[in-house]
Amino acid sequence: MTHEIAVIPGDGIGQEVTPAAVEVLEALDVDFSFTEAEAGDAVKEATGEALPDETYELAATADATLFGAAGKTAADVILPLREAVGSFVNIRPAKAYPGIDAVRPETDLVFLRENTEGVYSGHEDRLTEDVATLTRVTTQSASEQLAEFACEYAGPESDHDGFTIAHKANVMRETDGLFRDTVAEVAADNGVDTDEVLIDAFATKVCLDPTQFDVIVCPNLAGDVLSDLAAGLVGGLGLLPSANIGPDRGLFEPVHGTAPDIAGEGVANPAATIISAAMLLEYLEYDEEAAAVHAAVEETLADGPRTPDLGGEASTTDVTAAVIERL
Ligand code: NAI
Ligand code: MG
Repeated sequence: MTHEIAVIPGDGIGQEVTPAAVEVLEALDVDFSFTEAEAGDAVKEATGEALPDETYELAATADATLFGAAGKTAADVILPLREAVGSFVNIRPAKAYPGIDAVRPETDLVFLRENTEGVYSGHEDRLTEDVATLTRVTTQSASEQLAEFACEYAGPESDHDGFTIAHKANVMRETDGLFRDTVAEVAADNGVDTDEVLIDAFATKVCLDPTQFDVIVCPNLAGDVLSDLAAGLVGGLGLLPSANIGPDRGLFEPVHGTAPDIAGEGVANPAATIISAAMLLEYLEYDEEAAAVHAAVEETLADGPRTPDLGGEASTTDVTAAVIERL
């Protein structure tokens, strides 16, 4: 069966790392049909729309989407794209690789971030010149859906031993209270072990000893910030992939943005996007191919060539070619 893959490179280094990941997928023996579409600052400048209807439709109907990054229009692109695939969870692994200079080389974490609500649900108002407000939304249904996914991801059938619920329910009693209680209850019903940690304490603890944690389930903003913090522990944003999973389709993207400081120079690290493509392969149940891509990226990170963000001198295309060679 041919899988339809939407490819949305976006702006900045999205234009460099997305084709690199597509090249890797094309080097495999998989039946994919790629369709490219536009989104981001450049298409907004040209047409007035950061996310053209055709692009939204493509993501909403393709089996999976590979996205690069968008610049100033990121929120106008990525939030609707996540909605297009019905994504209720953002999986963000943060893993240190052998040979890479990491602050905490023992880091091996996976964040399961709630992906639809919290402070990102769009209820923000400027009431007066002095006052702006934001309504934080937590629903039992979204928390349950995330928890059910987490139970499968980290439950008895998996390589994980349950998960940690990160929250701030001591202050945000209603919203994070509902989140924590719902997730804990679903886990208990499924026989999955959990513990919990306050998000501010987590920030300290994970820096001091990341091996205390494995899978972390958290609300939207907390997952956004804490996974970027974990990126700092493992050697930078150029290494962090992510997967937005919905009931029937997924959207795969690096955690990083358009990197305007290096865009156009051909030196962006393609690893985060190539690993995101490996997550796409896993999602479509090409497990062997996914494992091969992971291994080829790991060998390349360990033995080089490496891009300047990892202390090397190689270009995006050098690294991509080295990964494909190792496949
Ligand atoms: P950024 O992730 O683009 O860059 C932060 C730093 O990390 C920069 O120094 C950059 O050079 C470096 N970096 C990031 N990815 C890299 C890679 N693959 N290889 C080597 N170095 C890399 O975040 P920043 O600077 O905060 O945002 C820049 C733009 O990207 C903004 O317009 C922002 O709105 C957008 N953005 C878009 C996102 C998305 O589309 N999902 C996510 C985050 C930011
Ligand atoms: Mg972010």
